[in-house]
Amino acid sequence: MGLILSMAGNAIGLGNFWRFPRVLAANGGGAFMIPYFIALLLLGIPLMWVEWATGRYGGKYGHGTLGPMFYVMARERIKPRGALIFAVIGGMLAFAVTTLLNSYYIHVIGWTAAYSIYSATGAYYGVNTAVFFESHISNVQMVLATWLIPMILLFIAAYRGIAKGIEAFNKVMMPILYIFAVVLAIRSVTIGSPVRPDWSSFAGLNYIWKPNFEVLFENFWVISLAAAGQIFFTLSLGMGIIQNYASYVKKGDDIALSALTTASLNEFAEVILGGSIAIPIAYAYLGPEVVKSGSLALAFMALPNVFTSIGEAGRLFGTMWFLLLFFAGWTSAIAMYNYLVALLEEDLRIKRKVGAVIVFIIYFLLGLPVALDSTLIYFGELDNWVGSYLLVLLGLFDVIVAVWLFKPEKLWKELHDGALIRVPSFFKYVLMFLAPLYITILLVGTTIDYYRTGVFAKTDPLIVGARIAIIAALILGALEAYIAIKRKYSEELAKNEVLVRID
Ligand code: PHE
Repeated sequence: MGLILSMAGNAIGLGNFWRFPRVLAANGGGAFMIPYFIALLLLGIPLMWVEWATGRYGGKYGHGTLGPMFYVMARERIKPRGALIFAVIGGMLAFAVTTLLNSYYIHVIGWTAAYSIYSATGAYYGVNTAVFFESHISNVQMVLATWLIPMILLFIAAYRGIAKGIEAFNKVMMPILYIFAVVLAIRSVTIGSPVRPDWSSFAGLNYIWKPNFEVLFENFWVISLAAAGQIFFTLSLGMGIIQNYASYVKKGDDIALSALTTASLNEFAEVILGGSIAIPIAYAYLGPEVVKSGSLALAFMALPNVFTSIGEAGRLFGTMWFLLLFFAGWTSAIAMYNYLVALLEEDLRIKRKVGAVIVFIIYFLLGLPVALDSTLIYFGELDNWVGSYLLVLLGLFDVIVAVWLFKPEKLWKELHDGALIRVPSFFKYVLMFLAPLYITILLVGTTIDYYRTGVFAKTDPLIVGARIAIIAALILGALEAYIAIKRKYSEELAKNEVLVRID
């Protein structure tokens, strides 16, 4: 129970209430839902099992980070020096994702902090909420101050190592968030058409739930990748985070049912609750044009309208809601923060306290351009590559290493050790053949599409800057993983044969 709640606590976050509505809206609503559910079934859930199994297996060797985990798995089929290559790729991607994704994730947590203050003071009452967001984002002092709140709290928590306390807190907070979300979802679908008769929250729901093949086929690759990316983002897949948590699971404990339960809790919070809040509200109050623009700020432009609609009580309710989101986001961000601290500690033997300082500096430097760019172009570019492309790419290496190189039979055995359910073999074949094919086609298709539409030729300095940050993080991540594994397995790599084995 504790494990499931911790896992759900890390999965359920801003991805469900902020990112899901926005990518859904930006990618044609009912066009997006189709590849979204396909990706959930054929990539999300099966990879959830793979990542849990990878984590527990790596944990037996005392590893909590992805690079070394990939190493011990890959060497089952290939020689240690070959395994090193896959380990470096895995470590590189996990490092890049946990640094870059969190650099903007913390920024959004800052928005929730600002909006709880704005709700309490009633700042957005009587103002157009889209205009209000613009004024918030261009208020540099407020943006920086509210960004530093979660940053400093993250630092303190990591520095003092209070993971246990956070877990206990999470268990109380998550159910409250759930209840609040249910109340908000009910309210949003019952507001009717407060502004114009054709802008109703039901029209908003219709936009999401009416399958729209036409739009899907117009923009097939981009929408399909965005949908798969969102599945990864919301389930915390393709980051090394699930493996890190699962490394604490003991031999003989269930992982098959736990993984499925976490995914279900998260998907309910995302599709049913997250899907019934921001979009219907935005549709009713701001209209379809704003919805379809899919702004990164959609949820923040939408929600205040509902709070103002209930008068003074909305101030309290709004404050509570944004605070809950703040904590939900924060408990996800700490997972990434701690991953990096653990990585420094475990791989490079840097003391936790020193590690906490280093990670703070990394997030500060990476987060500064996100916070200072009020156009959100830098942010959007990062999220597009990291939140979709890189996560899904790491998913491909999950399959190559943990399924193929580790051997499908061994993975299936690992997954079912202590399992409370039997996973249908259908999923084994999905993992072996369909999933890698699916991801490869998606990535190749999108890349060709990007090339054709001139995405690579963009020269806006903010876009180029974001791309440089991504490349820098990848290089640093590869170096880190290489050094770590070379050090841990020096003898094996010198002889190029497996010497250390724990079963
Ligand atoms: N799954 C989280 C969300 O939906 C994102 C995340 C993953 C955050 C892993 C932290 C660590 O918000």
